[in-house]
Amino acid sequence: MHKRIRLGQLCPGMFVVNYGAGTFDDPFVELGYFIKTMDQIVELKERRIHELLIDIRLGCDVRFKDTPPQNTVSFEQELHVAEKLYVETLRHARSFMADVRHGKGVDYQQSLPLLDKLMQSVRRNRTAAGSLSKLRRFDEYTYTHCINVAVLSMSFGSFLGLDEEELRLIGLAGLYHDVGKALVPEKLLNKPGRFTPAEYAQIKTHPLHGYKLMTSQSGLDQRVLRAIVEHHERADGSGYPMGLAGDDISTFAQIIGIVDVYDALTSNRCYRSAQLPRDVLRIMFERRENDFITGLVERFIKCMGIYPPGSFVRLSDGRYGVVCETNTDQALAPRVKVALDSKLRPLTPEIVDTAVESNPKLSIVDCLDPAQFKIDVYRLVN
Ligand SMILES: [Fe+2]
Repeated sequence: MHKRIRLGQLCPGMFVVNYGAGTFDDPFVELGYFIKTMDQIVELKERRIHELLIDIRLGCDVRFKDTPPQNTVSFEQELHVAEKLYVETLRHARSFMADVRHGKGVDYQQSLPLLDKLMQSVRRNRTAAGSLSKLRRFDEYTYTHCINVAVLSMSFGSFLGLDEEELRLIGLAGLYHDVGKALVPEKLLNKPGRFTPAEYAQIKTHPLHGYKLMTSQSGLDQRVLRAIVEHHERADGSGYPMGLAGDDISTFAQIIGIVDVYDALTSNRCYRSAQLPRDVLRIMFERRENDFITGLVERFIKCMGIYPPGSFVRLSDGRYGVVCETNTDQALAPRVKVALDSKLRPLTPEIVDTAVESNPKLSIVDCLDPAQFKIDVYRLVN
């Protein structure tokens, strides 16, 4: 069975039948081989090939649809709704983690109504809910991290073209991915210094603890269970608890794994300060071959943009603002709410789309830590 795909969707493991449109000025060129390395994809790119025909009986199918849906509501409008939901989910996460800590077990069904509302928020605007933790300062990393991973996984899943049922499940997996940490002593989780080898071994038990807790409930989808137990597995086999590699790691676990790393590094922890999203994406990009399946980190960067929503930035004309929306085709050129002049004095807020040609052409020249300037980015966006 043949399928026409864009070059950007081509991955190792696919069987390419031919390329070309089959017309006089763009005739078919027969290939008939497996893509085994990224070099073969680069070579096709250099030949300026845009579309190909693959055989999905002989090789892999397209893993993701890469069809991000359009937002129906603006970032600023959705932020108010998303904030109420975020605070409500924070209360819920505190409660179910406390239940597990006190040996009461969990009932994931109680999370479904809230997850449904968060999913609707993501479908209205893909980035508002996911940017909240970067705009507002919430303490209690253990709980905010569960919510951030749930929301960002739904946002990334939506970008990848997952359907409504899959989004609901990936959100559930995100919310419960670290539930096993409730069985690790809190003192250890909040230790400000480095872990000893014995302490690290104890931390590494949490995916299995979480899996055991969740398997005790009937009707939970296997994709959620696998994401919980496999979210620390890495493509090169260096992860834990089972040392799985490559495609043996489930797709849901890969998505949760990427989002987990991103949120952990961009959050304040008891042993280090948050890093800027742009710097974290660069680290993830440099390690992409080791940690995740081919093309997934690249897609995450396209989804988030080099300057993800909530980033505090300086424009080429000296003014400052907060990123509100990414342009998926131009990762370096998001929409920015400009609210401060070059001396950090308040201005009448203005939305600037840096992807649009203007005179002078505006671009982002720096991404900054708002805390260093004592700037409340949430107030700027509102
Ligand atoms: Fe974890």
